[in-house]
Amino acid sequence: MSRRLEPEVVRADFPIFSDPRWRDLIYLDNAATTQKPRQVLEAITEYYSRLNANVHRGVYELSVEATEVYERSRRRVAEFIGARSWREVVFTRGTTESINLVAYAWALRNLRKGDKVVVTEMEHHSNVVPWQLVCSLTGATLSYLPVTDDGYLDLSSLDAHLKGARVFAFTYASNVLGTINPVRELVKAAREHGAVTVVDAAQYVPHAPVNVSDIGCDFLAFSGHKMCGPMGIGVLYGRRELLEEMEPFQGGGEMIREVRFDGSSWNEVPWKFEAGTPNVEGAVGIAAAIDYLSQFGMDQVRSHDLRLTEKALEVLAEVPKIRIVGPESARDRCGLVSFTLADIHPHDLAEFLDRRFRIAVRAGHHCAMPLHTRLGLTATTRASFYLYNSEQEVEVLARALREALSYFRAA
Ligand code: ALA
Repeated sequence: MSRRLEPEVVRADFPIFSDPRWRDLIYLDNAATTQKPRQVLEAITEYYSRLNANVHRGVYELSVEATEVYERSRRRVAEFIGARSWREVVFTRGTTESINLVAYAWALRNLRKGDKVVVTEMEHHSNVVPWQLVCSLTGATLSYLPVTDDGYLDLSSLDAHLKGARVFAFTYASNVLGTINPVRELVKAAREHGAVTVVDAAQYVPHAPVNVSDIGCDFLAFSGHKMCGPMGIGVLYGRRELLEEMEPFQGGGEMIREVRFDGSSWNEVPWKFEAGTPNVEGAVGIAAAIDYLSQFGMDQVRSHDLRLTEKALEVLAEVPKIRIVGPESARDRCGLVSFTLADIHPHDLAEFLDRRFRIAVRAGHHCAMPLHTRLGLTATTRASFYLYNSEQEVEVLARALREALSYFRAA
C-alpha cells in the first residue's frame, strides 16, 4: 500500500517548513532545487554518526560497511530507473557533470571534423555548452532541433536533423516550457540514424516513473537535489557496452587497476568513472530520497504535479496581461509554469511575490538563454511544484499576480 500524498501532511516531513522564519513560505522553486525531508536528513546524519569511513580503500570493518552502504545506494538507484545492472549507474556531482562526462569521455574521442551533434532549442545550458566545447575541439558541427510557437519540439524536421548525426542530446522535460518530450520516439529515430542518445532527465526523474531500459537511450542524466536528495550528487546512467568501451573522464584514485611509471590501466565500470573519494553522503542521501518518494510511488507524484499544473494553467490564464509559455495541455507538461506579466520585469515580480506574499519563484533566463531568444523574451518568471505544494498555494500565486499588476500600475 502506498502512502497517500496529502500535501499538508507531507509538508510536515520537511523541517524547513517548521522553521519559524519559513513557516508560511510558499516554495515554488522546485525546478531549481527541492526541500529535504527529515528522512533524508536523518539518513545522512546516521551515515556520518555510525558508518563514516573512506570507501573501497580500507580492509577494516568500518570501511567495508561504508563501502557496502555506498554500493547499496547505487543498486537502489539502478532499480529505481530500471537499469539492467548497477554497473550502468555512475555517481557524479549532478546532471551537468553527467553530461560533461559523456561529452568529454565519449564524444571528444569519437567525433571527427564534419561530424554532427544535434541538440534542441529548448535545452538547459548544461546540455548546450558541453557540446559547443566538444564541437569546437573536434571540428564537429552543432545543430538545433527547433521549437514550435506552442512549445513543442518540431518533429517535422527531426529526420533531416538526424541525418548523419553522431549524437542526439535532448531534454526529457524542459525546465522553462515544462514540455515533456516524446522520448521513446526521439530515441528510436536517433537509433535509426545511428546517433548516440543523451537524455537530460533532471526535470523528469524526480516527478514521474522512468525506465531507462524501456526508453532504450544510451545515456540519461539527473540530479539528487531536485528529488529531495542532497546537492552535489547526480547520476549518469550509461548503457553497459558504451561505458565499457569508453576511456575515463578524470584520472585519480580508485578509477585505476594498475598505475606504472609508463602508463595505467582502468578499473571496471562504473568505478572507472569515479576518480577520487566519492560523495558517499550524497549516495546515501539520494537513496534515502528514492525511498522517501517510493512510499508514495512515482505515479502518485506525477498525478499530484499534474493536478497542480492543471490548476495553475486554469487560474493563471485568467490573470490579465499574462503570457504563459509552453504547451496548453497540462498533460504535456511536467509540474511547472513560466510566464511574463505585462511589462513587469521578472526580477521585480519575483521580489514582489517574495516580499508581499512569501512566494518563492525563479526569475530570469533559467539557464536557457537560446530558448528565451527563440521565444522573443529575455526572461520569464517560473513557478514549479512538488509534493508539498497545494492547490491553495497556486491560488495565492494567481491572486498575488493580480495585485502585482496594480502595484506596478501595469493593469
Ligand atoms: N536547472 C535548474 C533550474 O532550472 C537550476 O532552475
